Amino acid sequence: MSDRTPIIAGNWKMHRDHLEAIQLVQKLAYHLQEEDYEGQEIVVCPPFVALRSIQTLIQSDKLPISLGAQNCHPEDEGAFTGEISVPMLARLDVRYVICGPSERRALFAETDELIATKARAVQKHDLRPIVCVGEVKEEREAGKALDVVVDQLRGSLQGVSADDPDALVIAYEPVWAIGTGLTATPEDAQEMCAAIRTELAGIYDASTAEAIRIQYGGSVKPGNVRQLMGQPDIDGALVGGASLSSEDFALIVGHRR
Ligand code: PGA
Repeated sequence: MSDRTPIIAGNWKMHRDHLEAIQLVQKLAYHLQEEDYEGQEIVVCPPFVALRSIQTLIQSDKLPISLGAQNCHPEDEGAFTGEISVPMLARLDVRYVICGPSERRALFAETDELIATKARAVQKHDLRPIVCVGEVKEEREAGKALDVVVDQLRGSLQGVSADDPDALVIAYEPVWAIGTGLTATPEDAQEMCAAIRTELAGIYDASTAEAIRIQYGGSVKPGNVRQLMGQPDIDGALVGGASLSSEDFALIVGHRR
């Protein structure tokens, strides 16, 4: 067993308005048991417009749940119509920011360079980036998955600090497994997460790499989470679809019961 504190995060993507968001978190809290909070971090990443409502709920009900944002702009402020800055997120008690998830890479043309810039901005304000990497199907079939992921990792971590290893989370999300119902086998996921850790040792150093948490993401469900989390280099899950059901997300978070 490693000393790394497992981290389970729900990425709601563009689902749930702020009222539905409150309900979802209330129901989640209802389904969770005290032991589920112990020794692991639970994060919810609702759309921006729900952050304030969830912040208030977490405060008033004293829920040991952290708030995450799905994106940010790297500048602190300025004429960037439609964008949200990290200081704004900090004021909402946001602790984690997802940087470079596959949809932003594919649909919004985010590059490794931009993702690294965002991750640095997140750290500058003492929030924590969850830096996402992952290969597409064709790359895996061509036997290039490892090279692609290592490349993304190097590019997306340019100048990103791991002085506090808890302040950086990596999410391995094979793109072909996202929202498709296809999951990487625990062995394949483990192989890639181990390779990521080796690469992290090169970028930082061995003991830092040992301490950084690596999540797996891609069709994580109550039925497969235990096997995935049982792998030595998988320290958490980044959950999309299944995090929209309070029952399913509670079962995922409660996988140790
Ligand atoms: P999924 O999404 O769980 O719906 O496959 C994963 C993700 O994109 O974080």
